[in-house]
Amino acid sequence: MAITDHLPRYPLAFLPTPLHSLPRLSAMVCDELQLLIKRDDQTGLAGGGNKTRKLEFLIADAQTRGSDVVLTIGAIQSNHCRQTAAAAARAGLECHVVLSGEPPQKPNGNLLLDHLLGAKIHWAAQEERPARLAELTEELRAAGRRPYPIVLGGSDPVGASGYARALEELLEQTRALGLKLDAIVFASSSGGTQAGLVAGAWALGWDVPLLGISVDEPEADLKAQVADLATRTTNHLGRPHTFTAGDIRVDAEYLGGGYAVMGDLEREAIRLLAQAEGILLDPVYTGRAFGGLLDRIRRGAFAAGQNILFWHTGGTPALYAYAGELTR
Ligand SMILES: Cc1ncc(COP(=O)(O)O)c(C=O)c1O
Repeated sequence: MAITDHLPRYPLAFLPTPLHSLPRLSAMVCDELQLLIKRDDQTGLAGGGNKTRKLEFLIADAQTRGSDVVLTIGAIQSNHCRQTAAAAARAGLECHVVLSGEPPQKPNGNLLLDHLLGAKIHWAAQEERPARLAELTEELRAAGRRPYPIVLGGSDPVGASGYARALEELLEQTRALGLKLDAIVFASSSGGTQAGLVAGAWALGWDVPLLGISVDEPEADLKAQVADLATRTTNHLGRPHTFTAGDIRVDAEYLGGGYAVMGDLEREAIRLLAQAEGILLDPVYTGRAFGGLLDRIRRGAFAAGQNILFWHTGGTPALYAYAGELTR
C-alpha cells in the first residue's frame, strides 16, 4: 500500500477485508441501485472493527517509542477499548482502559471481552476520563514504566493513517472488479475513520464522495473536527494539504436519542440487514449509520444506476449488551 508504506505498522488485521454486493437488500430497498458493503467487521481482532486498522499504526508507534503499556478511554461498550486490549495482548503490552460510568454487576458485550483480554479497567465520569488517563499515565511513568496514551477512538494522525491505507485497499479492489463507486457511507464519531479516508482520497487522487453519518456530533462540529484531523493526517503521510469544513460531508440527521441510545431507526436497520443478507450491525454506530443510509435511499438521495458502498466498521459485540431492547 504505497501511501503508508513508509510508516511503521504492526500487522493485526486480516486484510483485505471482503468487499461484496448486497443483492437481496438492494432488491428490497431500491432495485435501481447496487448496494455494496466493505466488511471491516471482519478484521479478525477479537470481534473485529475499524479500530484494528488504526491500532496497526498506533501499536507500531508505541513499539517504536519503546513503550511497554498502552492506555486509552471510552464508553462502557467501547469497541475501541476492546480492540486496544486485544491489540495490546497480541503485541505483549499491558493495557489500561478508562471507561465511563459505574461497573455493572455482570459485564456483558465489549466490557466482558475487555476482562477476558486482560485489560486493567478503571472507571470515571465521562468528562473526567481524559484527566484520569493523564493521571494514570503519570503514575505509570513515576513507577518506571513507558506508557503510550491513545486518544478517544484512536483518532489522531497515526491512527487515522489506518483509514488512508484502507481507502487504497478499497481502490485496488474496485479496480480489480472494474467497479465505479458513486458514494461511500459510514458511521462517524470521533472522526478518525473519516479523516483517514479523506486524507487517503487526497493522497490517492480519488474523487469519491465520502459521507459520514454522525453518531453523536452536530454537523458543524464533526466537519470541523474531521477537517482538522484530515489536515494533520496528510502532514503525517508526507502529502500535506489543508482541508476546511466545507470539504467534509457529514449527515447529522440521525442523532436520535443521543449517543448509545438505540431507537427504531437502529433496530429496524439491524433486523433488515440481518434478515436480508445474514450480516449483523451494531446498536450504536453501524445500526445508526445504516439506518441513515436506508432513509436517504428512500428519500431519493441517490440516482438510478449508482453503486453505493456501506463501510461496515464493526461493533457487533455490543449487540449482546442490548439484548433486552433488541428483542422488544
Ligand atoms: C463500530 C464503530 N463504528 C464507527 C465508529 C466511528 O469511528 P470514528 O470514531 O473513527 O469516527 C466507531 C468508534 O468507536 C465504532 O466503534
